[in-house]
Amino acid sequence: MPNVVVIGAQWGDEGKGRIVDLISEKVDIVARYQGGNNAGHTIVIGDEKIILHHLPSGILRKDKLSVIGNGVVIDPKVLLQEIHELVSAGYPANETNLKISDRAHVIMPYHRAIDLARESMNGDGKIGTTGRGIGPVYEDKAARRGIKFADLIDAESLAARLKAVLEERNLYITNVLGGEPINFDEIYEEYSQYGKELKKFSCDVSTLLNDSIANGKNILFEGAQGALLDIDFGTYPYVTSSSSGSGGASTGTGVSPTTIDTVLGIAKAYTTRVGEGPFPTEIFDELGEKLREAGGEFGATTGRPRRCGWFDAFAMRYAAQINGISWIALTKLDVLSGFEVIKLCIGYKHKGNELLSFPSTYQVLEGVEPIYIEMEGWQEDISQAKDISELPVQARNYLQKLEEVSGVPIYTVSLGPSREKIIFLYDLFS
Ligand code: IMP
Repeated sequence: MPNVVVIGAQWGDEGKGRIVDLISEKVDIVARYQGGNNAGHTIVIGDEKIILHHLPSGILRKDKLSVIGNGVVIDPKVLLQEIHELVSAGYPANETNLKISDRAHVIMPYHRAIDLARESMNGDGKIGTTGRGIGPVYEDKAARRGIKFADLIDAESLAARLKAVLEERNLYITNVLGGEPINFDEIYEEYSQYGKELKKFSCDVSTLLNDSIANGKNILFEGAQGALLDIDFGTYPYVTSSSSGSGGASTGTGVSPTTIDTVLGIAKAYTTRVGEGPFPTEIFDELGEKLREAGGEFGATTGRPRRCGWFDAFAMRYAAQINGISWIALTKLDVLSGFEVIKLCIGYKHKGNELLSFPSTYQVLEGVEPIYIEMEGWQEDISQAKDISELPVQARNYLQKLEEVSGVPIYTVSLGPSREKIIFLYDLFS
């Protein structure tokens, strides 16, 4: 059984939660390795819709171990809420099936305050963040003034770390951002209480995962956001602040890259993006609106309408190159029903010249002109199809062309949000 990394191959919201939920049936452990509650993974089981922000999507499989790695950033208040909601919905989330790395960093109220104040100060230059404090917490981690989960669960360490960092953060908030200072006693009291409640989940995740691998267990590493939001390889500065690519699975959990066997990239049959930043295949007319409505393209975390566009196979090739994507799980093909013509982007032109590789700057990306091929669409509702042969010929042609121009084979095609609306083309886990 392989150890597999599942990542978003576009700008996030590709439907990773749904795919992880499905294939987690075949693995022993599901481990989140980066991001925080900027993510919103939606899973539909029967009539129930569950949105997870921190917890790995494997938590919905009762016999699996769910792990939050050191690369994740945790908002303890939101995490506790998530755990309580899950338990009231009848899913276990206890110290036996959930482990949290003591090295993970903690999102504090001043991180959120800084994130929100910066975004409103930056006006047109804003990133369009989720406002959850993600940039500032990773910034503190790199600046060596972070608060780790190990500190949160130990009242003395929490007090010492807060004393060491809060004054400086307050100076920044008041003098630079014009905000209100954060009171030590208030947050110490509140956060040490969260620490008490969360202590039982604390774990040395690297040792746990390495021992599990040595004992023949297999792991699904669950990425959040998407390849094009990666801090190094995304459309910087319009990115998130962590390594959302497959490399993050190793640094974000403490296992060696040599233990990873395969990388599954999740991609929508079209493209969406939330927040600011270049998006070459974005559709601005009523077709974009039609995609948004048909696909229910509104953020699971912030409710913001998502920008919509055609599938970008040139960006997909780039995502495959930097992440070693061996398979695509294609989601939401059913949303494309009813389009006369479907466009597929196969390259970019910049100042009249065809580009050989994906641009490394947003300035170039903003100026590119997509090169499209046009494919005949289909009108039928395809959401009931159980096999690829039941799809209209135009849909099969689209899939074949998408594979060809992306250079990556398709592993699954999903045709609706519920667990059964998926067609498997291969068996990766036999
Ligand atoms: P941040 O991660 O909140 O700092 O936001 C940085 C950028 O990443 C913004 O454009 C967000 O909209 C985007 N982003 C963050 N998390 C997600 C996600 O889970 N799905 C899609 N976009 C996201």
